[in-house]
Amino acid sequence: MDRMKMVQEYVDDILQSCTDKIERACRYKHLYGVSQACAMLAMKRNENVELAAIAGLLHDIYRYKLLDSTDHAHKGALLAEDILCSIGSFARDKISQAIYNHSDKADTGALFDEILKDADVLQYCLYNPLAPVAEHEKDRFMMLKEELS
Ligand SMILES: [Fe+2]
Repeated sequence: MDRMKMVQEYVDDILQSCTDKIERACRYKHLYGVSQACAMLAMKRNENVELAAIAGLLHDIYRYKLLDSTDHAHKGALLAEDILCSIGSFARDKISQAIYNHSDKADTGALFDEILKDADVLQYCLYNPLAPVAEHEKDRFMMLKEELS
């Protein structure tokens, strides 16, 4: 089984534990949507597509596993490292750094980190393109539209 599939199975097990059907669906859509957006942006920006997709899948796993949003980016980076360590040899530093920084949307960081931040915004903004864009996501979404048009 490839590494992506192994991470997906791990994530699916956590998501399946959510008993609320609507909340479970939201979590699936968000993690898989961000993962796919990460893969697309990584292709466009010549970054590692597999690692980007995995970063997207794991970026909010702390929130969903521990049901705690407090400092979830920083705590989630450590959890992602543990998960990836149990699965195999990964460039864990790259993935965990992107997860660690993904809540800092107002800052611009490393190219790989920016993929995850942008994908997180894209998933929210494109899930319902007719919904208003959150104030704190407007600048980033505007730049993404320019890049992708
Ligand atoms: Fe997210």
